[in-house]
Amino acid sequence: MTESSAIDDVAVSLGDRSYVVRVGRGLLARAGAEIAPLLRRPRVAVVSETTVAGLHLEALRAGLSAAGVTMESLILPPGESTKSWSHLQTTVEWLLAQKVERGDIVVAFGGGVIGDLVGFAAAILRRGVRFVQIPTSLLAQVDSSVGGKTGINSAQGKNLIGAFHQPSLVLADIEVLDTMTPRDFLAGYGEVVKYGLLGDADYFAWLEANGPALARGDRGARQAAVRHAVRMKADIVERDETEQGDRALLNLGHTFGHALEAATGYGDRLLHGEGVAIGCLLAFDLSARLGLCGQEAPARVAAHLQAMGMKRSLADIPGDLPGRDGLIALMAQDKKVVDGAMRFILARDIGDSFVTAAVPRAVLADLLDQALAAR
Ligand code: GLY
Repeated sequence: MTESSAIDDVAVSLGDRSYVVRVGRGLLARAGAEIAPLLRRPRVAVVSETTVAGLHLEALRAGLSAAGVTMESLILPPGESTKSWSHLQTTVEWLLAQKVERGDIVVAFGGGVIGDLVGFAAAILRRGVRFVQIPTSLLAQVDSSVGGKTGINSAQGKNLIGAFHQPSLVLADIEVLDTMTPRDFLAGYGEVVKYGLLGDADYFAWLEANGPALARGDRGARQAAVRHAVRMKADIVERDETEQGDRALLNLGHTFGHALEAATGYGDRLLHGEGVAIGCLLAFDLSARLGLCGQEAPARVAAHLQAMGMKRSLADIPGDLPGRDGLIALMAQDKKVVDGAMRFILARDIGDSFVTAAVPRAVLADLLDQALAAR
């Protein structure tokens, strides 16, 4: 991993849908200068949520206004339940009331929930307007703001309604991460670890060495970690934009994680990134049980999650969980299901993952029985 400059650019090359992810410090203050070249008229419609707006909306307004760009804003409630039909309707109707036209830019200013919801609103508004992602959480900076997956949740499951709609620009301001709570930061770190585990053993080793500094607030380490994860994601998305193959690797830990989130009500009991971290370890445990990797791989994953003070097993989830069959039924809701067969991201080693449907139900059932018994 090389040192970061003040701002690092990661290009996402997708033909006429190409864009740049800028990672660095001071990007909110420069937001107007960054976005102005995309604008036909000097105004943007910003959608955010209460917590982020309270902390950073005035800094964004000042950053836009420094380049003569004005903004109107819609502030939604925070939390996963905002990714709903009703908030999508509120957002689209508000954008129409703001007279947002095809040539205008919508700004998604928040974490993964706002990025997904606002990206989807932009995808369907007037059959598609451009949008800029300004991700304010670690999870959104390394994952959800890049790659064009947008959408909302259904009562039937997470992210089941949506569209691929690439942003025109992503501004990942590392300084904004300073205001995250330690719990939210560590949850986002679950997605960071995922990148090392799915495809880059050296990155995982770097995280083992630098993770504690990152969590303590080292901005240089944070910028290097975000830049590297975004580069890895860009490479995968360039190969497989609409998830016909390799992009599914980005879902390492997510089949378990989504089932656990559904079981805990998508709320404070288990944050998305916490479910991903627990899910990654379960995926490595499952891989070891199937003889795909040695026992030392899951042991090393568990040791890193423990060293970071992260949730790592079902025992770390407060309250009741469904039994093994209930969890398997929730896993079967996953978008990766093909012809009714669940597909898993498993690993031959740290940094060497692959997609497979070849998981005998009995092995999965044993794994979950043991994980539940340890609670
Ligand atoms: N978060 C997984 C993906 O973007 O494909």
